[in-house]
Amino acid sequence: MTTLSPTLDLNTGAKIPVVGLGTWQAGKGEVGAAVKAAIKAGYRHFDCAEIYGNEAEIGEAFKSAFDEGLVKREELFITSKVFNNHHQPERAVKAIHNTLKNLQIPYLDLSLIHWPIKFEEEQIAQPLRTPEGKLNPAITWSFDFKETWKTLEELQKQGLAKSIGVSNFTVKQLEELLADAQVVPAVNQVEFHPYLFQAELLNYCTSKGIVLTAYSPLGSTVSSEGVVPLLENEVVKDIAAEVGRSAAQVVLRWGVQKHITVIPKSSNEERLRANFAIFDFELSPEQVARLDSLPQHRFIRLVPGHFE
Ligand code: A2P
Repeated sequence: MTTLSPTLDLNTGAKIPVVGLGTWQAGKGEVGAAVKAAIKAGYRHFDCAEIYGNEAEIGEAFKSAFDEGLVKREELFITSKVFNNHHQPERAVKAIHNTLKNLQIPYLDLSLIHWPIKFEEEQIAQPLRTPEGKLNPAITWSFDFKETWKTLEELQKQGLAKSIGVSNFTVKQLEELLADAQVVPAVNQVEFHPYLFQAELLNYCTSKGIVLTAYSPLGSTVSSEGVVPLLENEVVKDIAAEVGRSAAQVVLRWGVQKHITVIPKSSNEERLRANFAIFDFELSPEQVARLDSLPQHRFIRLVPGHFE
């Protein structure tokens, strides 16, 4: 029998599996096979987004898994996200319908505002970044999300998304949203790993009944000068040796012991299976404390001023 991930309860009563498969940078031609392999390995939680550009291939994989009887739609927990160029209500509605069409499913388990940042459509048609990796100066934005939230509230009422939530929101932005929201977000998905242990944000989310989902839970592959990759960090490696597990499993286990969900991306069957096998060991409080006190680093930023 396939072993499944434990779940956490969302404020809608839905259950979100603690380990999900991330699909950011899961390339075309490989993501479908990864999704099928993950389903066979026991994954039931899949994290997608329209901006990743691979939802159609993921949809093919879901369809083929349903057709083969590997799993039923209602056994999966599928998330997608509305990107910054679709914050205007009519565009958000269109974007979600398009995502559902690509994923070949009638509803999402979770629909998120991808960033609390609104771009204009004409601007997103331009490259997001310059060749030097800076945000294209032709793109202007605002930290504007209230209208989009109302749209998600409406889509939830229509049953197109069972739960709704946000991503990349700070405490300040959550406070702003909650000031006049009818629905409390079920999830806030943010960068979170031992190099970015956002205790204050986690405590705030917990106090409001919002589940935190960690993206890049392995510490991100975005290179950052002068930063030793998390999986090569000496403290992580020492703890891995102590518990007889891989560095990746230690880092993911650190996350789940904080009662969050983690969505490591892998297109490699062996690694995605290993990332799922983290429920048969535990880190001691002392090991957790060592990981809690690593130097801090944020890898993923989209626009200046967001996290300051
Ligand atoms: P791969 O797909 O080749 O396994 P993210 O930060 O978006 O979650 O991405 C995780 C990155 O770490 C991916 O590049 C993935 O590459 C790699 N990865 C996933 N699982 C492991 C693992 N167990 N050990 C080392 N690297 C991993």
